[in-house]
This record gives sequence, C-alpha cells and structure tokens, in this order.
Amino acid sequence: MDFFNYNNNQLYAEDIAVTELAEHYGTPCYVYSRKTFERHYLAFSEAAKSHKSLVCYAVKANSNIAVLNILARLGSGFDIVSKGELARVIEAGGDASKVVFSGVAKTADEIAYALKLGIKCFNVESIAELTRISEVATELNLIAPISIRVNPDIDAKTHPYISTGLKENKFGIDIQTAVAVYQHAASLANLKVMGVDCHIGSQLTEVKPFLEALEKVLILIDQLKAVGIELAHLDIGGGLGVSYNNETPPHPSEYVAQITKRLLNYPDLELIFEPGRAIAANAGILVTKVEFIKQNQDKFFAIVDAGMNDMLRPALYQAWQQIVPVKPRQDGTATQNFDIVGPVCETGDFLGKDRQLALQPGDLLAQRSAGAYGFTMSSNYNSRPRVAEIMVDGTRSHLIRQRETLANLWQGEKILP
Ligand code: LLP
Repeated sequence: MDFFNYNNNQLYAEDIAVTELAEHYGTPCYVYSRKTFERHYLAFSEAAKSHKSLVCYAVKANSNIAVLNILARLGSGFDIVSKGELARVIEAGGDASKVVFSGVAKTADEIAYALKLGIKCFNVESIAELTRISEVATELNLIAPISIRVNPDIDAKTHPYISTGLKENKFGIDIQTAVAVYQHAASLANLKVMGVDCHIGSQLTEVKPFLEALEKVLILIDQLKAVGIELAHLDIGGGLGVSYNNETPPHPSEYVAQITKRLLNYPDLELIFEPGRAIAANAGILVTKVEFIKQNQDKFFAIVDAGMNDMLRPALYQAWQQIVPVKPRQDGTATQNFDIVGPVCETGDFLGKDRQLALQPGDLLAQRSAGAYGFTMSSNYNSRPRVAEIMVDGTRSHLIRQRETLANLWQGEKILP
C-alpha cells in the first residue's frame, strides 16, 4: 500500500495535489512519499523481529540521502555496492556497523575505505576478492569481517537481466565448492568469517525460490559447523517483487514469516535481509507533462517531457509500469490507444505502450512504482539535465535533489588550450 491516491478527481502524494507539486517544482520530477518508505521498511523490520535480524536496505534502488536518512532514523542497515553508496550512507547519518558490502568488483581503495569505517561485513564474490580483502586488511592491521556469497543455482523466474542465482551468472561462488573456500578464509589471519550470503535475483513474485535457496544454504551451514566453522549470520539478499501490473508477490511480512519459520532451529543465526525494490518502488512516481500529441495513421503518441534517460526500466527490461493521468479529463476528450514516448532520439525511448488514455497537450501523467531503480538509473544522455526529486511528508514537500542546471552538464569537462 502506498500514499498516492485520488481525491476529488486528482492524484495526491500524501496530502498534496501532484498538480501543485508540478507547478511549484516543474516537470519532469520524481515525487516520493515519506510515509510509504516508512511503512514498507517497517513491514520488514516488524515481521523480522520474531528472529534475531537486521534489515539492510539496498541503496542502489534509491540512494537519495533524504531517503537513506529516513530509513536510518528507523534503525535500518544498508546493503551497498560501491564506495559512493557507502559515502552516501555516512552522509545520511547511517551506521557503518550496519552496512554490508556486496558487488563483484570491489577495489582495494573501496575495501580500505569500508574497513576503516568499520562496516558489518563484506559479501565476498570470488576467491580473488577474498585474497584482496585479506591483503588490504593485513596492510591496515585490521580484521575484515566476511561472508561468502554463494550461488545456489536456483531459477528466480524473473527477467534474465535481473536474475543472479544461476550458475551461468557472474555472481557468487559455486555452493558446491564453498566449504573449501570457507576453510581457506578461516586460515587467513586478518579475516573473520561471519556469515553466508546469497541473492538469487530481483522482482521475485513467489517465496518458493527463496525457500529453495535457503534450504541449500542451511545444508552448507551444517556442513561448515561439522568442520568447525560456525557462522553468526545468514544474509538472504533482496529480491522480493512488487506489483507493477497484476503480479501478486507475497506481502513482506508473509515473506519474512516464511523465512524465519524455517530458522526456528537456528535461533542464534542472525538473519539479514537486503530489500530494495519492495521498500522503494511504490514510494515514488515520475511526473511528466504531455508536450505534443501526434498521430501516425492509426497510432497515437503522447510525447512527454520525461525520457529513457530519466526512467530506463521500460527500455532496458521491457518493464511495464502503470501510467495514470494526474487529473483525469472529464470534458469528453476521447480515450485513445497511446504510446507514451520521450524526447530522446531512440526508438526504445518510451515510458509505456498501448495505454488507453484521454489526453490533451499540457496534461500531467504519473508513472507509478518509480521510486526504485528510477532516478538511480537516470543519466544525462542527449545532454538532458537530471530531474528534481521531491519528498512529500504529509502536507509539506521538500526538494531533496535540485534539478540539474545546464552548467552541471559539462561540470568537470575541459576545452583544450
Ligand atoms: N542485494 C543484492 C546483492 C543485489 O544485487 C540487489 C539488487 C539487491 C540486494 C536488491 O534487490 P531488490 O530487493 O531491489 O530486488 N535495475 C533492476 C534491478 C536490479 C537489481 C540488482 N540487484 C530493475 O530496475 O528492475
């Protein structure tokens, strides 16, 4: 459930009409709802209370420091994949001791930065990375807490670009060889073996693949115990899906309950979740204005001011996200079959296709479920300044990222002497 609802035939973000926000801040813009972020985070953290646990929000979904700060205030940990994301967490007031560091290509510099800040754990993706972390820790005379990301070879049944737990994917260490890797890790003086990690993919709409992965990881935990390696935590990753269209993913509390239920015999094993999308997606919309309406034979196009550089998901994954009028027309304008397309010079530049809408130029549209992997995947392609981000908090709105200026576009660039 989110806080974007119609009232008197117009869309509101919490208690503010979206038309008002568009007028004040301009379009395109991302509009977020604080209450929705909080509700979604608490759905995880409250359900997880039945077991020793930590929710580490996946920063890549939406990394604005206002978002991170709202979650940090609720006690959230964070799952990061770069020095930049870690720096954001710190800037936002997050607690480094609740940070887990994922990602396949951590540099020595990133490892040193995270070690000095005292993060909770490195999720290690390869033997070469284990060696690198050990070397950096030895050099700094610090102990690096690590967990091995295992690849359980489970089909997450999601889009191939966001499926990560199959053996043909680049992620993690083959679970079959994991015991030997743990024994090697345990023999290195500056590493402390803390846990095991897996993340099988994103936008999963059933619990079953998670439970299958969990079974395999629990077998590994038992095997490790038998050779004298006792783990303190199990990180199940992120990946719980949301309803973009008619998907019916389990509610976070249901998903968490099914996982914790399986861990009744492991009361001391801390459970870590890394949700991104399930917290952020439905906490945001992308507001865009119809610039022109164009008809080519029997096809209608609404050409809007937001493009694939602002919202890449439809172009990259053929993702479907709902597009709704901010103020539905009641003046008899005919409903037509529209492709909602952007200004970028690419055929793949669309926000949605075949949408039944009644539109006139100047109308505002809202693309729903845009709070995750929206702004964070945006770019300056076609030299388009990145858009503003606004957080609504009840009856108040806050500009949490200003619209880029033209000068921002070439910031750091230089003409030859
Ligand atoms: N943990 C790890 C190690 C991950 O790689 C990811 C996402 C997450 C947690 C969070 O997954 P979530 O709960 O958000 O599903 N750009 C794509 C999604 C890429 C996900 C990458 N990894 C999209 O827009 O659908």
